[in-house]
Amino acid sequence: MKRLRLSITGFGTVGQGLAELLVTKRSLLMHNFDFEVTLISVANARHGFIYREDGLDIPTLLELAASRRPLTAHPGVRHWENALEGLRATGGDVLAEATGTNLRDAEPGISHIRAVLEQGMHVITANKGPAALAANELISLAKQHHVQLRMESTVMAGTPVISTIREGMAGAQVRAIRGILNGTTNYILSAMAAGRDYAEALAEAQMHGYAEADPTADVEGYDTLAKTLILSALVFDRPLEPDQITRQGITTLTREHISRAISEGKRIKLVASLRLLPENKAKNAPLEARVEPVELPLSDPLARVDGVTNAIAVQTDTLPEVTIIGPGAGRLQTGQGLLADLIAIANRS
Ligand SMILES: NC(=O)c1ccc[n+]([C@@H]2O[C@H](COP(=O)([O-])OP(=O)(O)OC[C@H]3O[C@@H](n4cnc5c(N)ncnc54)[C@H](OP(=O)(O)O)[C@@H]3O)[C@@H](O)[C@H]2O)c1
Repeated sequence: MKRLRLSITGFGTVGQGLAELLVTKRSLLMHNFDFEVTLISVANARHGFIYREDGLDIPTLLELAASRRPLTAHPGVRHWENALEGLRATGGDVLAEATGTNLRDAEPGISHIRAVLEQGMHVITANKGPAALAANELISLAKQHHVQLRMESTVMAGTPVISTIREGMAGAQVRAIRGILNGTTNYILSAMAAGRDYAEALAEAQMHGYAEADPTADVEGYDTLAKTLILSALVFDRPLEPDQITRQGITTLTREHISRAISEGKRIKLVASLRLLPENKAKNAPLEARVEPVELPLSDPLARVDGVTNAIAVQTDTLPEVTIIGPGAGRLQTGQGLLADLIAIANRS
């Protein structure tokens, strides 16, 4: 049986979700996929990086995290002040990168990913920063070091979008993608369609824990823009800069805009779109990229996706339109995306 030595950087919602799945899916991984995972290191911002050669006990780590006690209280660990030093000193087979998304310079995730790819470790990541700002650089680095870099959970969490398009739809030429890729804004727009105004809908989203106290990244469309950048690089192989994407959020929408659309049999959604411009579908055709509120007729499958649910519709030359609908966030939902990437790596390495 294959043994994978795993490191997790970022032990918040997603890092813990993956760790929990490694416990609950342990026998499935052994029996169905013929591999076993040893979690050798974990890092967070407050307690730094801990490492244990023989493996960390995941239930102990989850208990320490839940009670906000230092991870260094785990018995028998070596400790480094920061993750980068710890990763360089200890290595492993796979890094699961799950630190917070930073769309300015992608740190600290991008440094973690660069360092371990150079050491010959595979990487799976939920972190949108490195994927949005440097996907192609990191993919080249992975190739150079003969390792894999997988990013399924950066777009729609564990709902399989990237693998479905790149692997399940292999050979099809993708011509356009349209998606509802942010649960917070979709929740707010759905609540507004049910009669609330913007401020009420935002307060409701915050009460349910769907929106941050500072909702800017979601409501101004930056989170959706990050996912659009990831799809432009991974699906179209056209890495874009953030300022090449037209972006408009939902903050200026009023109840009147929403009810007028409803009276015309339409729904307003924050839609990410990527489209090869029709005049030239040859290899170097320009790619149009937009994030903006769009009025959709009810006949459009995206119009009927409500609440925090996400969806993506993919148009190709051989499959006219494929729509994938599913969760776009959550502890186990995002952990599932990382788990699927880990299994893909175990199967191919
Ligand atoms: N939550 C979701 O549903 C979801 C879905 C898709 C993608 N993602 C992405 O997944 C990533 C993790 O999200 P999350 O919800 O788990 O966030 P989170 O709960 O805020 O956890 C982030 C973790 O990163 C740690 N961290 C920050 N800086 C660090 C550093 N320099 N070195 C080591 N650890 C560091 C934090 O440490 P402390 O615990 O000490 O603060 C925390 O443990 C983000 O990039 C997010 O965009 C999340």
